[in-house]
Amino acid sequence: MASDPPDKSPPLAVAVLISGSGSNLQALIDAQQAGELPIDIRVVISNRADAYGLTRAANAGIETKVLSHKGFPSRAEYDQALAALLREFDPGLVVLAGFMRILTPELVARFHGRMFNIHPSLLPKYPGLHTHQRALDAGDAEHGATVHFVTDELDGGPRVLQARVPVLPGDDAERLAARVLEQEHRIYPLAVRWFATGRLRLDHAGRVLLDGRVLTEPADLADIARD
Ligand code: GAR
Repeated sequence: MASDPPDKSPPLAVAVLISGSGSNLQALIDAQQAGELPIDIRVVISNRADAYGLTRAANAGIETKVLSHKGFPSRAEYDQALAALLREFDPGLVVLAGFMRILTPELVARFHGRMFNIHPSLLPKYPGLHTHQRALDAGDAEHGATVHFVTDELDGGPRVLQARVPVLPGDDAERLAARVLEQEHRIYPLAVRWFATGRLRLDHAGRVLLDGRVLTEPADLADIARD
């Protein structure tokens, strides 16, 4: 991570959306505080008031907002309110970090090429929920996590970076999830760093460009770690 040239441009304004523990948010905060991630997390927004990630954000001095989905008659109206809230903070990147809501096409379009999600599987395997149990049930030898740009297709946007973990004898969903989560904490700050330093973007054809080269397959953390 430390090998990139020093960057004099202002840090990238980021909004992070969460619904729960916020351990991926914490990984971003830690990398930012360590001077490894040139971002300014302007706001952390949760759809749940009891999300522990809100405490993590407050502890780091980051502004927090709760926008509960409960008071809204429709997904479209909730997402309009979310878009209005996001606009107040003018983020250059929106980071979904365990935000357990499906977004409307209108909201996704507003942040096209500027919204990331992290998903606990080796996409395109296992979009949706219960990914760890599904990997176990299928008898997979490996499992992992993926950072991708968000599009209308649930967990189906262009993939950027993956980390793999072996499925070990005796694994249950909880143990496997814990090992995957460790890797999530490595790949999310790295992908955000690539974006924040201008190395990563989505082109008009929906292709992922890293250092000017089209990624036909997502980058693999194991290859990067070997560089
Ligand atoms: C993470 O495992 C993330 O990949 C997953 O929720 C967890 C959030 O953990 N996201 C999804 O399943 C989205 N489809 P965290 O709150 O500790 O970061």
